[in-house]
Amino acid sequence: MSKTNKLATCPRLDPLGVDKDISAADLVDRTFLAYNGGRLREAARLLAEKMLPNDGFIGMSLTGALTPAGLGKSCLIPLMRAGFVDWIVSTGANLYHDLHYGLDLALYQGSPFLDDVKLHRDGVIRIYDVLFHYNVLLDTDAFVREVIQGTEFQRPMGTDEFHYLLGKYVHARSRQLGLKEASVLATAYACGIPIFTSSPGDSSIGMNVAAMALRGSRLMFDVNRDVNQTAAIVYEAKSTGHKSSVFILGGGSPKNFILQTEPQIQEVMGIPEKGHDYFLQCTDARPDTGGLSGATPAEAVSWGKVDPDTLPDCVVCYTDSTIALPLLTACCLSRVKPRRLKRLYDCREEILNKVKIKYLKTGTVTKIKTSRKIAKRASSASLDRR
Ligand SMILES: NC(=O)c1ccc[n+]([C@@H]2O[C@H](COP(=O)([O-])OP(=O)(O)OC[C@H]3O[C@@H](n4cnc5c(N)ncnc54)[C@H](O)[C@@H]3O)[C@@H](O)[C@H]2O)c1
Repeated sequence: MSKTNKLATCPRLDPLGVDKDISAADLVDRTFLAYNGGRLREAARLLAEKMLPNDGFIGMSLTGALTPAGLGKSCLIPLMRAGFVDWIVSTGANLYHDLHYGLDLALYQGSPFLDDVKLHRDGVIRIYDVLFHYNVLLDTDAFVREVIQGTEFQRPMGTDEFHYLLGKYVHARSRQLGLKEASVLATAYACGIPIFTSSPGDSSIGMNVAAMALRGSRLMFDVNRDVNQTAAIVYEAKSTGHKSSVFILGGGSPKNFILQTEPQIQEVMGIPEKGHDYFLQCTDARPDTGGLSGATPAEAVSWGKVDPDTLPDCVVCYTDSTIALPLLTACCLSRVKPRRLKRLYDCREEILNKVKIKYLKTGTVTKIKTSRKIAKRASSASLDRR
């Protein structure tokens, strides 16, 4: 067979000229043809053609300063309302800064080239080119402290329950202020979308919760519940014949938390499973440092986090989320019909119980019997080292 014939199976690079009426979805489809533009087009197609159809479960992880830049209101809320996000793992920072929008506290477009010593003197906070007054922090902190002193917060709970309860109060305050669709936490409460945070102490929300503990608050975060509850969501997807997909913005600890659900099911609970079906990540992190943020879906396959059979469909787009997310949101909303909300928060007890029953039947305290093929020498090698 000639070389030309071999290339005939590849789509020809034949872009359309951009015209003044082109939609964002068509722009991505017809002009993002190569390099990271090409990956963004593949990401849009993966979402629209594989992840979202047939009621597939979509878990989204959020890192980087997305909500301060307004991406909660512009993109995350429309995606959540359309039923395109079923559960979320976020940094506490994204949820804390989301509160400013829910409380109608102003953030401003500034510049990254300002005198930070002067900003400090003037009581102005800077996140790259986003600016806001120090009072925004003080008012948000006070809101968190006042809300969590209520009786319903006086016990240990998973972060999904904590965010649901906090979201209820943000939702009520937003309504009083006449705001519509302003906060991710409030929208998650209204839509029954569970939001977890992988390191609950590591944000201004966690800082206020800790300070209130010194005043006698009994609110504690049940991280074991979070680990099992997130695994329960993935098990619910897989055991009911649905696809489980991860849509990762950035990297960091939320990336691992959303992915580790599969090793929790397979390696720790001893329940046979193959890994998440689809993996989509937008990041600036490189794979060659060995860090998790830049780890590729192929590396995740080796851990059992991603199904090896669907690896060719997985996409990593090396692009700033502030560019990728609005484009992917526009593509999804214009190409896919809104889906029924799964309201996974409402069935949290039921799905946790389901995975618990399976685990208690299948799992062991001693080394599990895995269905995965492993080298016979592996266990003796580890014994040798001891
Ligand atoms: N006031 C607060 O509460 C506050 C503020 C900032 C950070 N924090 C905490 O600090 C920790 C670090 O959070 P973080 O999310 O800022 O970590 P980070 O900035 O290190 O980002 C995590 C990962 O996402 C990638 N990333 C970041 N921004 C990106 C973008 N725009 N596009 C593509 N990829 C991007 C990074 O390369 C990295 O791999 C978190 O635990 C957070 O809660 C708290």
